[in-house]
Amino acid sequence: MMDDRLVSGESNQQEDWEEHSLRPQTLTQYIGQENVKNNLNVFIEAAKMREETLDHVLLYGPPGLGKTTLSMIIANEMNVQLRTTSGPAIERPGDLAAILTALEPGDVLFIDEIHRLNRSVEEVLYPAMEDFCLDIVIGKGPSARSVRLDLPPFTLVGATTRAGMLSAPLRDRFGVVSRLQYYTHEELTEIVERTALVMNVEIDHEAAIEIARRSRGTPRIANRLLRRVRDFAQVKGDNTIKLDVTQHALQLLQVDKLGLDEIDHKLLRNIVEKFRGGPVGLDTIAATIGEESHTIEDVYEPYLLQIGFLQRTPRGRMVTDDVYKHLQMEVPRK
Ligand SMILES: Nc1ncnc2c1ncn2[C@@H]1O[C@H](COP(=O)(O)OP(=O)(O)OP(=O)(O)O)[C@@H](O)[C@H]1O
Ligand SMILES: [Mg+2]
Repeated sequence: MMDDRLVSGESNQQEDWEEHSLRPQTLTQYIGQENVKNNLNVFIEAAKMREETLDHVLLYGPPGLGKTTLSMIIANEMNVQLRTTSGPAIERPGDLAAILTALEPGDVLFIDEIHRLNRSVEEVLYPAMEDFCLDIVIGKGPSARSVRLDLPPFTLVGATTRAGMLSAPLRDRFGVVSRLQYYTHEELTEIVERTALVMNVEIDHEAAIEIARRSRGTPRIANRLLRRVRDFAQVKGDNTIKLDVTQHALQLLQVDKLGLDEIDHKLLRNIVEKFRGGPVGLDTIAATIGEESHTIEDVYEPYLLQIGFLQRTPRGRMVTDDVYKHLQMEVPRK
């Protein structure tokens, strides 16, 4: 079910190839995240001036905010090759050793979902990140000896949606730690207009703003909504995407003015109607709406917290008065 969710920040398979062509290639083309961008720009320029590799970079933040895109841009701006892999794909220490020894000097190694690396693999990574070397054990039993192998200098770019799940020793080995933020409506409007240009469709500014407002601060969602709205405009025979068709399409797609969908409504209504607005424990919410707790925590909740609809308290989750207004329900007297 989650895979089909229109307002999920996670990518679906069909989208993956299309995303490729939509990705900005340089820091200048990358919209928003000004802090992250400015810092990276300085570090990249400095590394280039010293003819050194860039320090290891950790990017974290919710799905669809542009971590993978940024890793590609880093390699591009450094004029080096990018090697891509992910935490779950590296099963054994030997897999990582194979990847590391195949790197060329200066390469960027991108490890997506780096919080999912297992411990034994992580331990290979420590000396690799710190001293650009590998410790391998040759032989078994009493005759076993450890050999140190030099690696070419490289930059590790790690991405994670859950920085809290990274072990402290791993996190400490990143020189640059950047947190990506949800995008503003203005930034998302710009992204929608840029994507429309790449997709070769015309869109009115008001229509772009409307899509931006409903995209939950997330470029991937903005691009996805734009694609769907484009379909509606096309069927209607419009060459330009206008505000009315945009509003109509998004209403049919059940994405409300704030980008909330049926699942969000169900979750919020549930807390209001069954638990008088909370506080109620995460596991209880999960059980009553038939979702897993960690899905709620990772996927549904972050945006609701961000817009101030939910609050985390020591006794559980609570809805705020804004929720009653948004759902057009009466705010209960306390
Ligand atoms: N700053 C940006 N400017 C323009 N487009 C962007 C920007 N950030 C992301 N995008 C677009 O959003 C899409 C998703 O970005 P990306 O795949 O980099 O997200 P991600 O953070 O890696 O997501 P995940 O956590 O799922 O791996 C890309 O196709 C890209 O075109
Ligand atoms: Mg990614």
